[in-house]
Parts: sequence; structure tokens; C-alpha cells
Amino acid sequence: MIVLGIETSCDETAAAIISDEGGRPRILSNQVLSQHEDHRPFGGIVPEVAARAHLRHVDRLIKDALAEAGIDFSELDGVAATGGPGLIGGVIVGVMSGKAIAAVHDLPFIAVNHLEGHALTARLTDQVAFPYLLLLVSGGHCQILAVEGVGAYQRFGTTVDDAIGEAFDKTAKMLGLGYPGGPALEQAAQKGDPERFKLPRPMRGREGCDFSFSGLKTAVRQVVQNLDQPPTEKDVADIAASFHAAVADVLQDRCRHGIERFRRRHGDDVTLVVAGGVAANRTLRDALAGLCKAEQATLVCPPINLCTDNAAMIAWAGIERLRQGSVDDLAFAPRPRWPLDPDAPAAIGAGVKA
Ligand code: KG4
Ligand code: ZN
Repeated sequence: MIVLGIETSCDETAAAIISDEGGRPRILSNQVLSQHEDHRPFGGIVPEVAARAHLRHVDRLIKDALAEAGIDFSELDGVAATGGPGLIGGVIVGVMSGKAIAAVHDLPFIAVNHLEGHALTARLTDQVAFPYLLLLVSGGHCQILAVEGVGAYQRFGTTVDDAIGEAFDKTAKMLGLGYPGGPALEQAAQKGDPERFKLPRPMRGREGCDFSFSGLKTAVRQVVQNLDQPPTEKDVADIAASFHAAVADVLQDRCRHGIERFRRRHGDDVTLVVAGGVAANRTLRDALAGLCKAEQATLVCPPINLCTDNAAMIAWAGIERLRQGSVDDLAFAPRPRWPLDPDAPAAIGAGVKA
């Protein structure tokens, strides 16, 4: 089975081709074009700029993905495109491209939930079996879920305010580190003292698996304001390191609760999978490795280039869906909001983003 994946839901235009022969998946190509330079002058993603950039580049990326894989359209068994959630203009570009290719070449079309793409990546890279526990940490989300099958998710917790990636990006912005903030903040923290500033650990010790990051962001702002002068390089490093320490503590605590709940539902064996762009962060990976060691759980972290947005995960989710016979017709309408577990109760005190 060979599937083309297209990803255009945020600020990466991506196309990839995956083959799967008897349960042995191979990434035949993985083209990613980041729009960071387009958005940097604005200090964040501008949806209209993103949609236009996707439109400009998506055809070429698909062509490059086919060339890198050494195949043409006739060898495909399906076309998968991110159908949401995400910035609607970009999602429309990818969905229309996927539908056009599917219609012209008479192929099945699969509209993939972007979050499902992140959620199933560990099955592409590490052949992780269902069920497993998932920590999904990205620019738009922060959730803990039990992944019980393709399309079968139980959400244990989510953020009641900001996504974790947003917290990284906004903190980086306050420290003058530019966009995208996550990698810059991680870099800045390398030489910092994580003990110098006592930042809050929102939700730590609370029942359940929900998150909150807005208080942490406010605390960082206060620390910056309380400095006698604009932050020096050392101040920035120490704030960045203190921020990492706070986030690491929170993730450990929330995931510990997640592991307990997963065990009550599925038994002792737990594999914790980390996915989404923030999973690229080494400090957080180390914190989760420590937790899993203590809890006797197995940690799976996909390679960094498959944690941040890419189309290989979309092609792979397409293969998993195609195997189940779950395809979409050409009337599929892009979905700016598309929860993985639509039945999950809303988090207490949650704003619209939960
Ligand atoms: O999954 P992703 O590529 O896009 C979304 O679906 O949101 O995640 C992007 C987010 C951004 O907030 C970015 O700052 C963050 O992931 N990120 C990181 C790192 N690399 C990317 N955050 C912390 N540390 C990193 N190394
Ligand atoms: Zn993502």
C-alpha cells in the first residue's frame, strides 16, 4: 500500500509518501517547507499569510515528494490530506489539492484529523501496539489521551486555557527571543539556572489530567517586569531554565495521573507516547523518561522531525484509515475544530480552546 500525505493546517507546507508492506512501513519521501521566515516579521502566525504560502508551494512539494520516492501518481493507493483542526485557509488548500489528485487518478481520498496524525506517529516509527497513553503537546493543544485504536480515543485531560506550545512561544516573545519560540527558549535555557526564579506549577497535585498555562505565562511577565533593567543574557537564560523546570514538573505530575488512570482501565503495562511539536524538547523528554523509569512505564518519543508538523504522519494515518476501509468522499468539508474524543467532558473552568 502506498499513500501520499498532504499537510497544510498550520505553518508548514508538507507532502510525503509512505509505503506499507505487510506491517513494515517505510517513509519513501518526506518534504517539509517551513514558513517561519514568512511569519517572523509578525512575531507569530498570520493565517492569511499562511494560506497564501501553502497555495504557492503545495503543488511543488507534492511533485518533489513523488520524485524523492521515485514513483508517479499511478502507483498510489490513496491520497490523505489534513482535514482539520487548524487554520481554515490552509486546511482548504491541502484538502482541495488532495481531492483533485484523488478525483483525477480515481483514488480513495482520506481526510485525516491532524491530531490523529500526531497520535499514530509512534506506530509508524516504533510499531507501538494499541492501547497506549498519549501526551499530545503542540502549538494548539495539550492533552493526555488513551489511544485504544484508530479513531478510538479517550481524553483524560486537556488544557483549560493556553496550549503548551503557546506558553513556550509567548514566553519566548516576552524575552525577545523571536519566533518560533519553543526551540529558541530551549536553546536559551541551556546555560540558565533553573532554580533562580520560583515559578508556579499550575495544576500540580490536582486530581485528573488537566493543564493550565496562563498563570505561568503571567508569572514570567511579572518576573521580567520586576527586574531593575531590561533582561540581560543571563536573566533570559535563567528565566528560560526556570520556565522549563516548571513545565517539566507539571508534565511529570499530570502524566503520573494519566498512567494511574490508564492502569485502572487497561492493566499494568503502560507505554507513554509523546507527540506534537513540543515533544522535540529535550528537557521535557528527559523529565518524562525519569517519570517512566520511576513508574515502570515504557516511553516512546518519535524522532524530532516527525514530532513537529509533517506529512509523513498524515500519510501514515491515511494508511491506517485505508486499512480499516474508512475513506471520505469528495464532499468532505474542512473542519477548523475536530476533537479526537468528541464525547470527553469539558475541562472544569475551560475557555473555548479546550
Ligand atoms: O505540532 P506543531 O509542529 O504544530 C502544531 O500542530 O501546533 O507544534 C508547534 C509548536 C510551537 O509552539 C513550537 O514553539 C513548539 O511546537 N516547539 C517546541 C520545540 N520545537 C517546537 N517547544 C519547545 N521546545 C522545542 N524544542
Ligand atoms: Zn501539529
